[in-house]
Amino acid sequence: MVESSLSPASITDSLGTRFIGQRVIYYPSLTSTMEVARREAQRGAAEGTVIVADEQRGGRGRMTRIWLSPRGSLALSIILYPDVDYLPSLIMLASLAVVRSIETVTGLKSQIKWPNDVLINGKKVCGILIESDVQRNIVEYVIIGIGVNINLRLTDFPEIPPMATSLSDELGREVSRLDIIRRLLVEIEGLYLALPAGGAVYEQWRDKLVTLGQRVQVKSGKTTYEGVAESVTTEGSLLLRRHDGSLTRIVAGDVVTLRDK
Ligand code: BTN
Repeated sequence: MVESSLSPASITDSLGTRFIGQRVIYYPSLTSTMEVARREAQRGAAEGTVIVADEQRGGRGRMTRIWLSPRGSLALSIILYPDVDYLPSLIMLASLAVVRSIETVTGLKSQIKWPNDVLINGKKVCGILIESDVQRNIVEYVIIGIGVNINLRLTDFPEIPPMATSLSDELGREVSRLDIIRRLLVEIEGLYLALPAGGAVYEQWRDKLVTLGQRVQVKSGKTTYEGVAESVTTEGSLLLRRHDGSLTRIVAGDVVTLRDK
């Protein structure tokens, strides 16, 4: 069974959120949900507007990479207008919401690879891209883009890196994309509304990070660092203990785990 196309009504009906997912714009196929979301945000779309597509032809990943999202995967972007102080928490909130949704809908346990890749059994099942426009410390908009490999047989997609997996490959059966989307929107809103209370998102995100304690190589811009991933700050930066004993704070980067010989 391959689930039929999504529809705005099937996502929104009785969702139970206050604003996230109360307006859904659906495309069978588009270039990237990030582009449509940016246009909508610039026109002042309501907070919580969701752009969702069955397929992206030019999906974007972190660090200017491409993100493949054929039919069977989930590609969505959410428009938010948070206070600038909450920006760092959004990276944590999004990955945490994905972990919780996957577990609620499928029972599968997943972990987070710093900063916000979601892994199952060490393989990437979800990538998250956050884009924002901040002018003089005022957030014009934030777009959270989430791509989840749901019903994809990855052997059919040799162009997707081998260190990836999908929910259907892990479970040996297909999963309702609708259930995942609806749960995700509920989780994101719950975590977002709880941000003013402080603390909890950071702690829960940190506790799900597989990266901590590992010997890693981190590529950040043109520099590659090596060391032990010791901890993360409340702003989401990674603290790397270098071989000379010094501690380096890395704001953004790509982590590769080094195996002991
Ligand atoms: C990454 O791990 O590199 C981030 C991938 C983010 C992919 C999602 S899919 C929905 C949204 N639209 C895009 O073009 N990218 C994000």
